[in-house]
Amino acid sequence: MNSEEIFALTENFVASTYKRFPLALVRGEGVKVWDAEDNEYLDCLAGIAVCNLGHCHPRVTAAIAQQATRLMHVSNLYHIESQSRLARLLCELSFAEKVFFCNSGAEANEAAIKLARRYGHEVKGEGVKRIITMHHSFHGRTMATITATGQKKVQTGYQPLLDGFDYVPFNDIEAVAAAITEKTCAVLVEPIQGEGGVILPAPDYLSRLRRLCDERDVLLILDEVQTGIGRTGAFFAHQHSDIAPDILTAAKALGNGFPIGAMLAIDRVMRYFGPGSHGSTFGGNPLASAAALATIETMCAEKIVDKVVQTGAFLVAGLKQLKQSFPEIIGDIRGLGLMVGVDLKVPVAEVVEACLKSRLLVGSAGDNTLRLTPPLIIEKAEIETLLQVLTEVFRVY
Ligand SMILES: Cc1ncc(COP(=O)(O)O)c(C=O)c1O
Repeated sequence: MNSEEIFALTENFVASTYKRFPLALVRGEGVKVWDAEDNEYLDCLAGIAVCNLGHCHPRVTAAIAQQATRLMHVSNLYHIESQSRLARLLCELSFAEKVFFCNSGAEANEAAIKLARRYGHEVKGEGVKRIITMHHSFHGRTMATITATGQKKVQTGYQPLLDGFDYVPFNDIEAVAAAITEKTCAVLVEPIQGEGGVILPAPDYLSRLRRLCDERDVLLILDEVQTGIGRTGAFFAHQHSDIAPDILTAAKALGNGFPIGAMLAIDRVMRYFGPGSHGSTFGGNPLASAAALATIETMCAEKIVDKVVQTGAFLVAGLKQLKQSFPEIIGDIRGLGLMVGVDLKVPVAEVVEACLKSRLLVGSAGDNTLRLTPPLIIEKAEIETLLQVLTEVFRVY
């Protein structure tokens, strides 16, 4: 099929929940993707922080292919070797002692919300179920996770929302302290707000939040769906600090493009998820787990995460130089590792479209922020190409 034929099919048969660009990608390798006419694009979005090892990494592809010929799915009523090995690896790489598997970020957050409520109910008493979340956060598109999300635009038209959420500004410890009541069971926060515009916390925010949660006997849930799996230069973003959450959610890059989500927790909390309390038909099935296991094993074997801080610093330095040439276009530049946001003073949608015409894929977030989340394997030469394209795009203004 050519691109025009694919566009027509989408238009006719796929729900229009996305404002789609006129691009149909059919093939990918590393940091490159190709459309139906075989035009090559540099992918600095990576499916929005998903393909951290690049497209079709041979080890992940081989693991999926091999598992697909052996056993794709069995129920969680039975033991699944790849799932158990994946859980052990995630625990070895983090604070966690137990893992629950699902299929997406929203589902991982649903699980976290349910677990926190159940913990509150069982440990602290009936009605201790309220969860504090942040303005401009993003936690997913299910009913519970749009309620948790502190953005009106994702909630519009879906009321009644769930009861039991309180919202405070991100990065404001006093506001969290004031919002905690005897009915609060947890605080849910992204270590870096992704969809909200790549908003970094103050350096001591997470540790102060941890201390506050301990003092007030409230669980700390970190949503690392976007920041996790090496994106910021640590396996999980909170590992840049010296704190650990009680519950953490991951998805996106966990399977390098194969859908899988996970909720990690300490045993003292996870034990309230007993038989029948929660579940998922596909969660951590043999195929998804094999993909995630290969993704993380490859990341460790190839020491991918170690390079991210350096590559990210190279990218940010290049962007700062660009800002000197275009101060009337570029505002604040923020990022950690390869999760980078650039505030623009011209419409970001125009810039994203112009980049696309120059065969560069980038994204947007927040009000007017250019979002760069390339595969973690991106080389300096490819970052130079990215900066060159941005230079040409900005020159037109
Ligand atoms: C921080 C965060 N949480 C949750 C989600 C939802 O993940 P999913 O789209 O896999 O449900 C996202 C997606 O962008 C996210 O960035």
